[in-house]
Amino acid sequence: MTTLTILPANTTFETSAGVTLFAALKAAGAAILSKCEGKGQCGACHVFIHEGRKGVSKIQRAENEKLDTMVGVGSKSRLACQVVLGEDPVTVEVLSFV
Ligand code: FES
Repeated sequence: MTTLTILPANTTFETSAGVTLFAALKAAGAAILSKCEGKGQCGACHVFIHEGRKGVSKIQRAENEKLDTMVGVGSKSRLACQVVLGEDPVTVEVLSFV
């Protein structure tokens, strides 16, 4: 188990290690979008991981290449569908607009 804190609502949930950040956010009821069904191709699930970046799966080439094509990307950017949670608590800012 690990703890997921979701910004800007600043709500905290318990979730399982080994699941994707996208799945955990969906399960928590966060307004996270997907247009590619979690294949890392649409960029709609762009989030900022403010805390716990070292405890999640490392960024892979395809995710990095997708992020390079997007605007508003920073050093904390990840695609939630490509992030697998570890045991460390994570604080994530959801950027999707509903
Ligand atoms: S859901 Fe499309 S890139 Fe993550």
